[in-house]
Amino acid sequence: MNLETTVICPGSFDPVTLGHIDIISRASKMFSHVIVAVLSNPAKEKSSFSIDERINLLVKSTKNLDNIEIVSFDGLLAEYAKERKVTAIVKGLRAVSDFEYEFQMSLTNKKLNPDLETIFLTAEANYMYLSSSMVKQVASLGGDIKGFVPDCVLDEIVERLSTNR
Ligand code: PNS
Repeated sequence: MNLETTVICPGSFDPVTLGHIDIISRASKMFSHVIVAVLSNPAKEKSSFSIDERINLLVKSTKNLDNIEIVSFDGLLAEYAKERKVTAIVKGLRAVSDFEYEFQMSLTNKKLNPDLETIFLTAEANYMYLSSSMVKQVASLGGDIKGFVPDCVLDEIVERLSTNR
């Protein structure tokens, strides 16, 4: 399937995991153009990696995909989608625990921008449990995060998170 449509894969990507890469690469096979939109958090919402670090890790991890664009956005996703004339968001759905929050976000976005649809891809079985918070917790306590994040950025993430130990 390759639809002539641009979609947005939004997220905090703090940091990118193999679960994110799975969703981004599947979206890039399904749609002609994928905008990976990294939320540039307002100062009060603290992220562990800066916006530049998060984008840099994503750029390195998606070098093999040629129909994606990595950008940052702030404010409402529904507004950003409108600005970019994009009418579909693609998100990964892991377990039932994700569902309620994702459902709420999807309905809120639809209310704010009625043209905006949310398409959910079920997470690959291997990545059902994986989250950026889990990666951060394991790495900051000295655990091995190989197999959780892309190999090409593994050392960078480990080094960066070990400074928080
Ligand atoms: O990586 P995450 O935490 O699943 O990403 C959540 C994200 C960035 C998609 C979501 O927080 C978001 O869209 N934030 C922008 C603010 C917004 O539009 N809020 C209203 C709808 S939830």
